[in-house]
Amino acid sequence: MQVTAIIPAGGSGQRMGLGTPKQFMTLAGLPLLVHTLRAFRDTPAVAAIVVAVPAAEIPHTEALLRTHGITKLHAVVAGGATRQESVRQALAAVPPETELVAVHDAARPLITPELITACIAAAAEHGAAIAAVPVKDTLKREAAGQLIAATVARDELWQAQTPQVARRDLLEAAYAAAERDHFVGTDEASLLEHIGCPVALVAGAETNLKITRPEDRTIAEALLMHANPSPTLRIGHGYDAHRLVEGRALILGGVTVPHRLGLLGHSDADVLTHALCDAILGAIGEGDIGRHFPDSDPRYRGISSLKLLEQVVARMQKQGFGLANADVTVIAQQPKLAPQIPAMRANLAAACRVHETAINLKATTTEGMGFAGREEGIAAHAVVLLTRL
Ligand code: CTP
Ligand code: MG
Repeated sequence: MQVTAIIPAGGSGQRMGLGTPKQFMTLAGLPLLVHTLRAFRDTPAVAAIVVAVPAAEIPHTEALLRTHGITKLHAVVAGGATRQESVRQALAAVPPETELVAVHDAARPLITPELITACIAAAAEHGAAIAAVPVKDTLKREAAGQLIAATVARDELWQAQTPQVARRDLLEAAYAAAERDHFVGTDEASLLEHIGCPVALVAGAETNLKITRPEDRTIAEALLMHANPSPTLRIGHGYDAHRLVEGRALILGGVTVPHRLGLLGHSDADVLTHALCDAILGAIGEGDIGRHFPDSDPRYRGISSLKLLEQVVARMQKQGFGLANADVTVIAQQPKLAPQIPAMRANLAAACRVHETAINLKATTTEGMGFAGREEGIAAHAVVLLTRL
């Protein structure tokens, strides 16, 4: 059956109290509406999507959904003064071949393709079906003065969620009858019930919560982070400095640079490679090289820092990341490093298992200022971007 999703996103989010509509607020790094629409994009049974937003938000919404790769988008329409009115506007814009309509609140961003699919299957069988959860708390009816009047039996009670899916002809009949009878409901099922249409209950999920009040944002973000603990991009920064002394080789990026002074350190004191190691460790959240290769450990005495970089790269790959690019700056008054830069770059690229174009290497003096300018030492900065493999 041809299924079109309708996403009412035409509200103003009064109870959220942001001053702007909640459907555009950022939730775990993405606009709320994008989270919701991703689930429908990723549900194979859904062929088309119609979104209703406040009229003034239409151009912004179209651009936003393009930027975030929301395919299947059939139309973005102007919503109305109530949810019911917004859905009615969207219903008029569904593609002509639509047989089933799945209505889902934009404000429920934790919806999953599995639950959408289950509701569609139940509606295909029964004509209409909604996601809902059995009431689990004991219910009280309030009397005047915030006193309990009675305990309400909860055995047969469910809390309605969305998706609410129905045959298109049934939903159109329900909306037409509601308009004729001035019947107002807060969901599709109540309109279908009004015309005597049976609606099946599908076990929804407590996690399919509706973002209504400020505290819901905290809960939703915690759940979203739990589902996807690590993003696809990571950034890292590294900085290191070593003292210049006589009687040591000057090793930078694994290349021995001819100079009267060299860098002092427990390993080969390759300050450039150390900065790159720290940037990668920073990006994967694993501290710094001091933690992994302590000065006190004799195994690292005089070791080539390229070997340390190889071990850091192995840790990065173990976490499922690859190096997208690195940008490294060496701060040295003397000697001129330009002749050695291509060889350093080749060494670093090989250790990082990337093409040389992924590593940018540059050197600067400080025009005689500071410790580097006085040739007391050499420093290096590195920034990296990692991508999930
Ligand atoms: N909705 C809509 N058109 C309206 C009102 C609401 O499309 N005129 C949508 C909301 O954007 C939301 C869903 O219906 O996705 C459920 O509504 P609700 O949670 O009440 O959202 P708001 O109306 O925006 O919030 P509030 O009631 O706190 O103002
Ligand atoms: Mg509302």
